[in-house]
Formats: sequence, C-alpha cells, structure tokens
Amino acid sequence: MSASAQPYQIAVLISGSGSNLQALLDAQQAGDLGNAEIVLVVSDRADAYGLQRALKRRVAAAFIPLRHPRDPAARAAWERRLADVVAAFAPDLIVLAGFMRVLSPVFLDRFPDRVINQHPALLPDDGGDTFVTSRGIVIPALRGAHVVADAIRLGLPVTGCTIHRVTPAVDDGPVLARAEVPVLPGDDEATLHERIKDVEHRLIVEVVARLVREGRQ
Ligand code: GRF
Repeated sequence: MSASAQPYQIAVLISGSGSNLQALLDAQQAGDLGNAEIVLVVSDRADAYGLQRALKRRVAAAFIPLRHPRDPAARAAWERRLADVVAAFAPDLIVLAGFMRVLSPVFLDRFPDRVINQHPALLPDDGGDTFVTSRGIVIPALRGAHVVADAIRLGLPVTGCTIHRVTPAVDDGPVLARAEVPVLPGDDEATLHERIKDVEHRLIVEVVARLVREGRQ
C-alpha cells in the first residue's frame, strides 16, 4: 500500500502482558507511526493483560482460544478461525508481540510476507545455530519459548532481541532488526527479561515505523 489517505492497518497478536503492544499504541498516539492504525488485537489467552490495554484505547480486541493444542485438526481449525478474524480487518501488517503459539502455513499462507515476530534473543541472518556479537563473541542462536532463562543458564555474556519476518520455520525468517543486551552479574530471568523488553519496546516501534514508511511489510 502506498502512502495515501487510507491508513496502514496493523493487527497485533499477543498472549500476555502486552507491553510491546503498549509501546506501539503509545507510538501511534504520539504520531510516530505515520498514518498507521492498530485496528485489532487478538489473544489466545483470556487473561492476557494486553486485551485490556487494547480496550482502553478503543481498539477491537478478541480472545480466540486454542482448546486442544495437541490435536492437529483442532489446531488447524483454530488457525483458520484466527486467520478469518484477522482477515476481516484487512491488515497490512501483523505483529506477533509475545504471541506464544507457532503459526503454520494454514495461517501464514493467508498473509504472505505480512507477519513479523519479536524474539527475546539474538538470531543470525543465515538461520544458523550461532550468532557472532558486535565484539566477535560466538554465542548459540537461542530458539524456543525459554530463551531468556537459557541465556542465563548457559552463562552467556550477552543476549538481546530480534525482529524478523515469520516463515513456517520457528524463530527464523529474514531479520529486520536486532539489538544486543548484556547479561549482568546477578541477573535472573526476570531482571534480564525486563531489560530486554525495554530495548524491544524501542526496536518494535522503529521497525513498524520503517515498514509503514516503506508502505509494505
Ligand atoms: C517479549 O519479550 C517478546 O519478545 C516475547 O514475549 C515477550 C512479550 O512481552 N516473545 P509483552 O507481552 O509485550 O510484555
């Protein structure tokens, strides 16, 4: 979509607190996202606080539960339902902001190149198993749902966050931005994750603003 009178529409998928969603809502309110508008927030959890954050800003908010996550047919049906709801809002961009479910081609094929994800660890450009930091330290590319705890458990000196386009491969896909965050002595998962999130809030706004400017996803 080119820059025109029609707003650039963004859907945000969440599972939890939604602090990154809040950063985007605040950026929109401050005029930092150009003509973009967050039109929909969806959660797979009813108690995700991000739903309240959306409603406080009068943004449409939906809870779409996945009742039998281990049943492939139920999972595919849930992805189709999710895609139907999202498609009704015709988003130019779909941001997975702490959305803790893996999406398959059942969902992704409906929105080619329109889905981006935040990941609280450093991922390489080549989809490989290691990442070389700005200081030349080789660390493992952490993937999965527990990467902040993994960074501490492995004694990494540095970790960070990555924003990437979503492909069917989990925590992979072309990298749009990343930032390093040092692991400090005495850090636990909570303190480290808070510092990573501070950086993520800035990074997600930068990336979304850039994509809005480019008029594509
Ligand atoms: C972020 O660290 C994101 O990278 C990860 O989950 C966290 C979501 O935080 N996937 P919040 O819900 O935006 O506060």
